[in-house]
Amino acid sequence: MEIIHTIDALQEALLAQQKAFPNRSRQLVPTMGALHEGHRELLKHAVAEGPTVATIFVNPLQFGPNEDFDRYPRDLTQDQKVCEEEGVSILFAPHPEEMALSNQQFVLQPNNLIDYMCGPHRPGHFEGVCHVVMRLFQLIQPDEAWFGQKDFQQYRVLEAMVDEFAMPIHMHCVETVREADGLALSSRNRYLNAQERERAVTLFNALEQIKEAVEAKEPAEIIQKKRKQLETQLSDAGFRLEYLDVFNVSTLAPSKTFPDGQPFVVAGAGWVGQTRLIDNLLINV
Ligand code: PAF
Repeated sequence: MEIIHTIDALQEALLAQQKAFPNRSRQLVPTMGALHEGHRELLKHAVAEGPTVATIFVNPLQFGPNEDFDRYPRDLTQDQKVCEEEGVSILFAPHPEEMALSNQQFVLQPNNLIDYMCGPHRPGHFEGVCHVVMRLFQLIQPDEAWFGQKDFQQYRVLEAMVDEFAMPIHMHCVETVREADGLALSSRNRYLNAQERERAVTLFNALEQIKEAVEAKEPAEIIQKKRKQLETQLSDAGFRLEYLDVFNVSTLAPSKTFPDGQPFVVAGAGWVGQTRLIDNLLINV
């Protein structure tokens, strides 16, 4: 595996990759590092499909002024080991100046897909994600790109970007990897102390209960009541909830009715201590 920090070296490595595997499709797994089993799952899927480029870049544009950019975990040596073990062929960990973020002339502004869920709680976040992913897509020109379902809104926004700008990239969303008790794996879980770790799983439990109620076709007003009760239970347990609701998978707008044959996603986000956690479950009615 090659570890590359500059665009010039990246272009050379991509050319060599193209020569070595002329008929195979190039795979991309963009990450911010601190790789865990969820990332391994993305890498496994990608490597099974073709020569894979993984990227590691802690993108300052997608962190708000009071967010955890400075303390976000960084461990290139360990991440390198994970990528090697999973069969990645190129690891691109750009020097910050290679990402040209200091004199940004353009903003990629997502529209209605960020009206709900994390959008209102993280102003500028999705613009920052789009900016960096667009640059990575342009530099690497992947045939396929892999993202985790835990960041479902991010996946939908990027999928819409690829669609709207007619980028020839096949987008994949891979199911969330969880701990035995259901907690979604996240690089931020390492911030949690023992007591917070116990609290963290209450979000998954709440999502499961709402999903079950929707799938059992309980009346809409009962589902709303259950949702409100769960909100109260979560906040009583010390989880500072930002949102907990069921959203239409294509518009990402909240939905109070669940017609047959339409997919929905029940999603939530909030804070345990100083750690922001998100999670979601897909619902097929
Ligand atoms: O999901 C992530 O790790 C990041 O948001 C991404 C897609 C690598 C962009 O910085």
